[in-house]
Amino acid sequence: MTAPESRLLERHLHTLAGQRLLLVNPPADELPTRLRAEGCDLRIFHQDLNAARQLEQRGLAVEYGPWLAPAEAPQRVLLWQMKARAWHALLLDMLQAELPEGTPLWLVGEKRSGIQSSLKPLKKRLGQAEVLDKARHCTLIASRLQAAPSRLEDHLQSQQTEVAGETLRWQSLPGVFAHGRLDAGSRFLLEHLPRPVEGQVLDYGAGVGLLSLYLQQRFQPQRLVLLEPDALALACARRNLPQAHALAGTRLADAPNGLDWIISNPPFHQRQAQSVDVALALIEQAPAHLRAGGRLLLVANRFLPYHSPLSAAFQQVDIVAENPQYRVYLAQ
Ligand SMILES: C[S@@+](CC[C@H](N)C(=O)[O-])C[C@H]1O[C@@H](n2cnc3c(N)ncnc32)[C@H](O)[C@@H]1O
Repeated sequence: MTAPESRLLERHLHTLAGQRLLLVNPPADELPTRLRAEGCDLRIFHQDLNAARQLEQRGLAVEYGPWLAPAEAPQRVLLWQMKARAWHALLLDMLQAELPEGTPLWLVGEKRSGIQSSLKPLKKRLGQAEVLDKARHCTLIASRLQAAPSRLEDHLQSQQTEVAGETLRWQSLPGVFAHGRLDAGSRFLLEHLPRPVEGQVLDYGAGVGLLSLYLQQRFQPQRLVLLEPDALALACARRNLPQAHALAGTRLADAPNGLDWIISNPPFHQRQAQSVDVALALIEQAPAHLRAGGRLLLVANRFLPYHSPLSAAFQQVDIVAENPQYRVYLAQ
């Protein structure tokens, strides 16, 4: 499916043709392939490994990470508006820090991303910005970068959270899941752990690593592996749990086998749209990654349809806790 922002940009292929472009966090659709067919020299930077892998499947090279590495300057940057303002600010800081003064910037976004209220602050930040086009509920804004120093570390926020008898001290970055707070579902899970979580443990979709941080403080499992595709969250997880193994991944095949526990508050959104695909794949593949007698511990919104896939994949499934919003499943 082609994202509406890409449809708007396709109206400007004649301007972009033959240019050396930097694409920052683009949707994983056919726009980059179209741009390549127009003779563009593409550099694609992505903070989400899900999208990066989908673009790679289309034969495109993608740089994945939390912050842009220095490289040859592009003739133009295409930036997609992020709904979270602090994340959007981080991306602009990154571009201003890593690209030369005067680099042309095109900012594109859907109405619901808040693009329309971006014009004024962008003008203030960069001295100039104008609307170039509007269509399909999207807006395209043109500006030029002003150079300004910044580092990823400047955006880190330190937090302290009390949960189930532990004090967690941790760091977070804009754009990550539940930035700066412990998600209510994750809190519910930690408050209802059915037994000690020990041995070889995988935290699937670890975010900044709060479930793992709790487990480490409470039970000191023999080995703690965190798997997460969001590069900003992973950067936090590595700071929050320097002794654990934090891996970039999008599927269980990216994690080790022979696990005693898989613990997860799995994602149910991909790029604003609701999707249970990741959780269903986790449930289906978990038994092959667990040692005999191993357990999958999940927290999810009550309305999500996980009970029957869990029963199909595991011998025993218990609901160890539930409230009007969440349910904690233990499958073994
Ligand atoms: C509901 S959040 C939970 C985060 C963290 N465990 C917590 O409790 O705060 C789900 C996490 O799954 C990550 N995620 C998204 N796609 C994924 C995938 N394909 N495989 C694993 N994790 C994924 C998201 O980036 C997000 O950090």
